[in-house]
Amino acid sequence: MANPSTEQEARALPRAQEETCGCLTEILSHFEGRKEELIPILQRVQEHYGYLPEDAMKKIAGFLQLPESTVFGVGTFYAQFKLVPSGRNIIRVCRGTACHVRGGARILREVEKRLGIKPGESTPDLEYSLETVACIGACALAPTMVVNNETHGEMTAKKAAEILEQFKGKGDEERA
Ligand code: FES
Repeated sequence: MANPSTEQEARALPRAQEETCGCLTEILSHFEGRKEELIPILQRVQEHYGYLPEDAMKKIAGFLQLPESTVFGVGTFYAQFKLVPSGRNIIRVCRGTACHVRGGARILREVEKRLGIKPGESTPDLEYSLETVACIGACALAPTMVVNNETHGEMTAKKAAEILEQFKGKGDEERA
C-alpha cells in the first residue's frame, strides 16, 4: 500500500489500514498475554485506531489464547467500544426529555436526512458520525445538538441544516 503523501491524505486513510506498520504488535508488546488484560488491550487498540478493527480483535484473541467469540463479545458488550470507525465530525443530537418536548425528534430527522445515516452510523466518506445522547446538561437551551465539542442550543431543523452546510463548506475548502 502506498504511503500517504500529504497530511490530508493521511487523515483520510482509515486507521485500520495502518495495521501494516505493526502498530498492533507494538501495543501488544506492552502486555504479558494474561486473559485479564483483555479490556486494557481493547482500550489501547481503540485509542490508537479510533475503533476496534475486526482483524485486530482476532489477533488479540490469539495473543490472549481466548476464543474470538469472547473478544468480540466483550467488544460489543461495552458501550465504550466502537466496532466501526468514527467520522471526523461527530454530531450528537440530544434525545433527553427537555429536548424531546421541544422538538428534538425533528432535529434528529433533519440531520438523518441531510447526512443519509441513522444514529450509530458514519457516512461512507467518514466525514460524519451521528449519535444520540440522553442529555448533554444544557436543558435550558433545548433542543440541543453538539457538533464535535461545540454545543448548539435552541435548535430548529433549519438551524441544523445550516450548521451542517457550514461544515460541508469547511470540508470542501480543506480538500481544495
Ligand atoms: S435533555 Fe437535552 S440537554 Fe438535557
